[in-house]
Amino acid sequence: MFVIETENLTQDYATGFWRKRRVRALDGLSLQVEAGEVFGLLGPNGAGKTTTFKILLGLIKPTAGSARILGAAISEVKMRARVGYLPEQPYFYDYLTAREFLAYCGALCDLPATEARQRAAELLNQVGLAESADKQLRKFSKGMLQRVGLAQALINDPEVLFLDEPMSGLDPLGRREVRDLIVNLRARGKTIFFSSHILTDVEAMCDRVAILNRGRLIESGKLSEILKTRSNQIEAVVSGINESALAELRKFAAEVLPTPEGARVWLKDDRDAGQLLEITHQAGGRLVSINPVRESLEELFVREVKES
Ligand SMILES: Nc1ncnc2c1ncn2[C@@H]1O[C@H](COP(=O)(O)OP(=O)(O)OP(=O)(O)O)[C@@H](O)[C@H]1O
Ligand SMILES: [Mg+2]
Repeated sequence: MFVIETENLTQDYATGFWRKRRVRALDGLSLQVEAGEVFGLLGPNGAGKTTTFKILLGLIKPTAGSARILGAAISEVKMRARVGYLPEQPYFYDYLTAREFLAYCGALCDLPATEARQRAAELLNQVGLAESADKQLRKFSKGMLQRVGLAQALINDPEVLFLDEPMSGLDPLGRREVRDLIVNLRARGKTIFFSSHILTDVEAMCDRVAILNRGRLIESGKLSEILKTRSNQIEAVVSGINESALAELRKFAAEVLPTPEGARVWLKDDRDAGQLLEITHQAGGRLVSINPVRESLEELFVREVKES
């Protein structure tokens, strides 16, 4: 059984004066998410990610198609108790403290008062907000609010988590913390469905991804399989080399870009790496990094759009 399963999900929005014009925001989306997976929904702005979340969370009714969560139809209320949700733009009660807000969310989920308070304290710890627990939410930064939102999604210890852009508004450290939190939740057997348009957030922790563009599913599967390694291209960074070494490199490299420390070098073929190393060492330089050149998510979108 799949934890999340959608079939031909389609959403048209009525827009404009008299709401006569229709915009197809989601076009026949079918996907399956297995238990214990971290599944990333990727796509540029306007691709239909939030629309997918809203349908799955029962906030809007799809124009066509159907979906099931934990084996239940999305219209079923009882299943919701086993689901957590972080909206893209969560709304908070500004004058409550973080602790009060979470205890309130716990009460909404039918937790007894003492349990709700205990759970709130635990979660505040988990998302790194223990020290601000008794501050009013109106005094929180965007990143702090995002953590409160995450804690809120976890209050009922859900089996399935829906996170719409959980990294938005966070600084690099905050992003890493959220990433660790998600990896932790997966280790505890949770299924996590989240959206993002930032590749690096996704790469480190997703089992599988689906890529949406203009409402259509353009690819799904393991990210490493989707993003093609461009033939044998290699990018290397070297430091501490001299002009004559640069000239040597230019003889066989696809491109050499001098930098204050040394150079960034693109090789046409991974077999040229040995020669690069030799020249660098002979010039008394150092190899800083060497990486296969992979397509970025942006490049993938461009390629897919061109192909379709
Ligand atoms: N309530 C609405 N009424 C009319 N059009 C809408 C509505 N909500 C979304 N849309 C349109 O549907 C499309 C998909 O929007 P959606 O919010 O699902 O995209 P998204 O992938 O979440 O984008 P982002 O990365 O910017 O959050 C967009 O073209 C958007 O303009
Ligand atoms: Mg969105």
